[in-house]
Amino acid sequence: MSQASYFDEIIDRIDHNSDKWGKYSSDVIPMWIADMDFDAPKCVKEALSERVNEGVYGYSYAPKSLVQAIQEHCLQRYQWSPSSAHFIHLPGLVCALHLCVRALSEPNDRILVPSPVYYHLTKAPEMSDRKLDRIPFVLKGNRWSVDLDSLEESCKKADASMLLLCNPHNPGATVYTREELLAIHELAQRYDLRVVSDEIHCDLILSAAQHIPFASLNDDAAQRTVTLMAPSKTFNIAGLGYAFAIIANSQLRQRFNHARAGLIPAPNLFALVAAEAAYRHGQIWHQELLQYLRANCAYLRQRISGTRIHMAEHEATYLAWLDIREYHLENPHDFFLEAGVGISDGAGFGAPGFIRLNFGCPRSQLEQAMNRILIALDSQS
Ligand SMILES: Cc1ncc(COP(=O)(O)O)c(C=O)c1O
Repeated sequence: MSQASYFDEIIDRIDHNSDKWGKYSSDVIPMWIADMDFDAPKCVKEALSERVNEGVYGYSYAPKSLVQAIQEHCLQRYQWSPSSAHFIHLPGLVCALHLCVRALSEPNDRILVPSPVYYHLTKAPEMSDRKLDRIPFVLKGNRWSVDLDSLEESCKKADASMLLLCNPHNPGATVYTREELLAIHELAQRYDLRVVSDEIHCDLILSAAQHIPFASLNDDAAQRTVTLMAPSKTFNIAGLGYAFAIIANSQLRQRFNHARAGLIPAPNLFALVAAEAAYRHGQIWHQELLQYLRANCAYLRQRISGTRIHMAEHEATYLAWLDIREYHLENPHDFFLEAGVGISDGAGFGAPGFIRLNFGCPRSQLEQAMNRILIALDSQS
């Protein structure tokens, strides 16, 4: 089987208890949640089978070899060397976002979140009696990025205490440049904000951009930042549940650990096995995946050219951020559902008039979904 056909293969997920495929009836193509319709890397499947065959599934801890595999990955890909003592293993990243807000800020503090954004970054402050300032993402040239003047205005408010960053940004597909990160850090330092940096999409860079962990910028950034990462998006193993936090500041680490004790369970043993196999042996699969996603992204751009759908530069993630405001749809979600495609409505991220389309799927599926979307838009205009 050629490498391209590995990702071209249609996998029937209808009876798999899949969130993505179970949400709608079987005649709808689901292109919403951040979950790809690809098999996990062979190295992951083999490592899991081996562990399943051992037959004893007792309480497990994250082995040193997993941390080493992640450290090697961080060094190779971002020239960053976090200490093994600063790792905290988690069953997912969302719980860590909520925990950071509750453990590392105070009730009524103001939390700053560049937005539109993955909804848990705004839910975390909203659900814990904090104030939320959405900092607008604006088009600079043809690329979405945070409006630094608005960020500074919010930083100046006396109760501002924390910035939740999503880098690469979802949705919007932006990878912050070093210059942008340094400007954000300068504000965080000047106004003494803690930074929680959700970097779950950091290994899904489709352009020439380079991912720079916020904590790797300099010593001050390392001391005020909680970095959250996971192999789940990159290697399509989200259902196994594994993420990790890196917290260099011992006080912040202690507060985080104190808040999670007894509430947040350790990751399950299969998640640990899969994560280590992916980071150690998944590189070739990963490179091939990126090539496939780049081609899907180019295909999508070609399909929307000549329409009134606009898509800015797409630097990372398999989640296209499409501006469909010129079509004036009252309810884009229901409109596209009627056409047989399940999309994420931008309103859910704070941006009505946009949709997010997951192109992490075989090309033929993307083609079919685009046919349905474009026919539906054509017929209403
Ligand atoms: C930015 C971001 N953070 C977190 C998550 C989910 O993390 P987890 O499944 O580990 O809780 C997602 C999933 O789409 C995401 O896009």
